Amino acid sequence: MDPILVCAATAVEEGGKGVRFAVATEGSAGTGFVVRYDGAPYAYLNRCAHMPIELDWAEGEFFESGGLYLMCATHGAIYAPDTGVCAGGPCRGGRLRPIAVVERDQQIFWQPDDYVRPPSD
Ligand code: FES
Repeated sequence: MDPILVCAATAVEEGGKGVRFAVATEGSAGTGFVVRYDGAPYAYLNRCAHMPIELDWAEGEFFESGGLYLMCATHGAIYAPDTGVCAGGPCRGGRLRPIAVVERDQQIFWQPDDYVRPPSD
């Protein structure tokens, strides 16, 4: 399946707001998100590893205030932005579900896989 456009590369700033995009998993609507960390884009399914709810309480706010970790706004689970592995809080032992992303021609695309599909699939 072809990669799907998320947004312009400039829309995702280092340690700043993330950009959400619509996905479907096992037929249910969901969201993915992309953030930038250490210069590179990283995308994950927007679902805490501890409970199946979205991480961003305020839309697009995925980083904690220090800009080092992604944080679930509800109960404070923190995740390494480059691996999605839980780094503290109630997600212990869990990790975010990664979504492949590519940055090319000043745009960011996500790559559907067997589990994370386009919403119309
Ligand atoms: S739902 Fe994410 S930390 Fe509780």
